[in-house]
Amino acid sequence: MSALVCGCADNKDDTVKMITEATFPPYEFLRGQEIVGIDVEICRAVAQKLGKNFQCETVDFDSVIPAVISGKAHLAAAGITVTEDRKKNVDFSDPYVKTGIVVVYKKGNPFKDTAQLKGKKIGVQGGTTSETFVTDELKQEPERTKSPAEAVAALKAGRVEFVIADIDPAKNCVKGEDTLAISDFITSEEYAIAIKKGQPELLKTINETIAEVKADGRLEKWVADFTAEADKLKDK
Ligand code: ARG
Repeated sequence: MSALVCGCADNKDDTVKMITEATFPPYEFLRGQEIVGIDVEICRAVAQKLGKNFQCETVDFDSVIPAVISGKAHLAAAGITVTEDRKKNVDFSDPYVKTGIVVVYKKGNPFKDTAQLKGKKIGVQGGTTSETFVTDELKQEPERTKSPAEAVAALKAGRVEFVIADIDPAKNCVKGEDTLAISDFITSEEYAIAIKKGQPELLKTINETIAEVKADGRLEKWVADFTAEADKLKDK
């Protein structure tokens, strides 16, 4: 069995701690008080492979990566896009999904192209690649919210004109909303698990786990099941 080398104070701990931000269906969301979703299952499988217990905690998205850098958690999994900037601070696993961000808009105010976004009030979840799209590509300040759903609520209330978010939570947000629609991808991104730098053993175990859950159909099943469950929760 491979050892979990976490390089942190609670090294002897027999529990793998995952850190996430659970307003991001179907990757992580709340079922009552319980954090569930695709990322949770991938990390649970990593813990299983290591023969360890598993724990998951949710914090603001801004605090997810800092939590593995400080050693507060072992695995950061939160639909985290691999970026060059983040690679300076953490090591990333192999990617487990190809995805990207989209524009959420009111059908009465159709989105055509990103040039149209210039100078507009745009809602984004703070700390995300949607935020850096607005600051770095559009060279303006977005309206930051705590979750994609909160940004979409601001769109519905007319406090912002557009929302930018990852496609899957965006799809969940517009589900059952007749007045809202989403665009095609405006970026191409990949999600991976982030860990504190310099843990080749742990990284290897994570990559093996990702390869296994992809190959044996578990990942595909989690995607289908948690998408359906998150959509159902929306209907309530
Ligand atoms: N993929 C985007 C990023 O890495 C958004 C992730 C937000 N995740 C979350 N669990 N709220 O910036």
